[in-house]
Amino acid sequence: MPPDEREGSVKPVADLTEAEAADELTRLADEIARNDIAYFRDDAPVVSDAEYDELKRRNAEIEARFPHLVRENSPSLKVGAARSDQFAPVEHGVPMLSLDNAFSDEDAAEFDARVRRFLRLGDEPVAYTAEPKIDGLSCSIRYEKGELVRAATRGDGRVGEDVTANVRTIGEIPKTLRGSGWPQLIEVRGEIYLGHTEFAALNEAAAAAGQRTYANPRNAAAGSLRQIDPKITAGRPLRFFAYAWGLVSAPFAETQWGALEKLEAWGFQTTPQSRCVHGLEGLLGAYRDMEALRPHLGFDIDGVVYKVDRLDWQQRLGFVSRAPRWGIARKFPAEQARTVLEAIDIQVGRTGALTPVARLTPVTVGGVVVTNATLHNADEIARLDARLGDTVIVQRAGDVIPQIVSVVAGERPKGARAYAFPHVCPCPLKTEVVRETTASGAETVVRRCSGEFACPFQKLAHLRHFVSRRAFDIEGLGEKQLVAFSERGWLNSPADIFRLHEHRDELLATEGYGEVSVRNLLENIEARRRISLDRFIYGLGIRHIGETTATVMARGYGSAEAFLAAMDRIAERDPEAVGELDALDQIGEAVIGAAAAYFAEDHNRAMVEDLKAQLEVQDAERPKADTAVAGKTVVFTGSLERMTRDEAKAQAERLGAKVSGSVSKKTDLVVAGPGAGSKLKTAAELGVQVLTEDEWLALVAG
Ligand code: IVH
Repeated sequence: MPPDEREGSVKPVADLTEAEAADELTRLADEIARNDIAYFRDDAPVVSDAEYDELKRRNAEIEARFPHLVRENSPSLKVGAARSDQFAPVEHGVPMLSLDNAFSDEDAAEFDARVRRFLRLGDEPVAYTAEPKIDGLSCSIRYEKGELVRAATRGDGRVGEDVTANVRTIGEIPKTLRGSGWPQLIEVRGEIYLGHTEFAALNEAAAAAGQRTYANPRNAAAGSLRQIDPKITAGRPLRFFAYAWGLVSAPFAETQWGALEKLEAWGFQTTPQSRCVHGLEGLLGAYRDMEALRPHLGFDIDGVVYKVDRLDWQQRLGFVSRAPRWGIARKFPAEQARTVLEAIDIQVGRTGALTPVARLTPVTVGGVVVTNATLHNADEIARLDARLGDTVIVQRAGDVIPQIVSVVAGERPKGARAYAFPHVCPCPLKTEVVRETTASGAETVVRRCSGEFACPFQKLAHLRHFVSRRAFDIEGLGEKQLVAFSERGWLNSPADIFRLHEHRDELLATEGYGEVSVRNLLENIEARRRISLDRFIYGLGIRHIGETTATVMARGYGSAEAFLAAMDRIAERDPEAVGELDALDQIGEAVIGAAAAYFAEDHNRAMVEDLKAQLEVQDAERPKADTAVAGKTVVFTGSLERMTRDEAKAQAERLGAKVSGSVSKKTDLVVAGPGAGSKLKTAAELGVQVLTEDEWLALVAG
């Protein structure tokens, strides 16, 4: 969501007309649902927790003022979110509900007052437990006669996902309950999480293996738990704190505190920071203490959970729609501080995107010294109207990069001028800065350097792409080697890779290299001098020209010479050449624009020529028109057993089929292996023909 969309429309709830409120509730429901899917189903949140909480808070505030507008599908009536279909559904014995949030001392006072009112209590302070609110994912684990029989995620609160096999791999979760006195049937509930050290190690290993890293420990925990293969989960050091229960065959405690003690005696970890406190004062004190402990815990918490200690009182208090009256989550605010914006520097990212970075007078935000904050892009600077010398509010939420929330009005130094975003890249080439476009050709808020390979900031990223598996696939030329060889001045462009043999002797004298490794590296490089046209095109790293587009272009032009001749004409926007390219399948304005921009730069054109002189680019195979699958759109899903996904795709394309990643009305065939999920379901719904892998092989062979 662009920031202006988020901030621009924020009108105090008290000023909203009824029509505006209704509109906004619709918008908020959509936005919250989208975020829920990103967070719960895809483990890939797109907004910070604080932003998400703010959406929910505003939704609740509007509903409180216009109760008759509460929608049937209001986010305030839902818990959790959509399940994915990789795991079998499990109905919880007792629904897994969630807690209402409190954001201030006043909210906590209101909670205490409500409890007392409801129970008609006198002056005696109420006993509560105050427990850290662990930021992981909740799980319900069913024990029958003391044996673990089933474990499920929360899902939508009523039905979760069966993650028994994975949960069994977690050391801190007992497979058999210890001690005695446990009910014959009990669903133990708690939070699966990852500690900070384990999270850092996991991400480091993922980064080293070139895999995607997780944004925060909670997503890493969710991603680790929801692995199809429990062996992968077993390798992730997941942990578990027990703090609640669902269905039980017999009561086993009289207080929450007593229940926590029992859970511990039966072999579970419970949070050592939990306390039993009395009255509002106790609640507020516990919150302050937890805030102070937070940086030293070694795992993420996002607040404190208050629960009425007496379970008979909990019973009487009961629930309102989705949350209990007996408990509430007091959330930590995003941490903020005031400081001065000293400078704005422009960083050039690996893809050439220019990111303005705020240099700040160092300030402590939530126990961490902050000296930089991201300003995202030129539009964000304009929205904040941030000027050098301004006093600003910076915010840190969880692990996210510090952000500037606002400029403090009235503290602007005299004569401070609005920031002008540079028109040239800060690299020595001083290339022109261009606005990035999306695949459909629309301008975005991002600005990029147009220098590509020639821009020293982008060179490494381009080289990395060039040697990657799907491009030139040069083994032995990893990040480390690319950096080292670049620093020695041996690698400035892809063509230089094919001249590395000139540095053979220096290489042999380099620590870590021997006769064998040098020979292997140079042989791997030599083997790639003969390259298919599609890999050649893809390796150039032209924006919007991914593997599929490169294949389409290779088939369309047939030879490197024809391709380059066409590109020269495209760079000049020759209408005939543009028309020819446009006529190719799946190619539109974005690709044409990107190709034109790339080949219009002399340094790119010279680089490509230099590279081509080193290579023997093979002509592309023209697609066959007379096969059983020619012209058909095919989707592969599930795991294939006779061939890899890449092989299957290449084979299908060779035979003239188009391979797509998702099933739609345009799909002709779905080839499904074991473990196929939602795509198979969609195919059935749309009446698309489904084949097994063997049936597919028979079809293409015939
Ligand atoms: S008790 C009826 N205790 O917070 C709900 N929840 O919004 C009972 N959480 O889904 C939940 N720490 O994932 C409880 N000490 C704690 C907790 C805790 C974290 C999470 C849990 C729950 C959510 C509630």
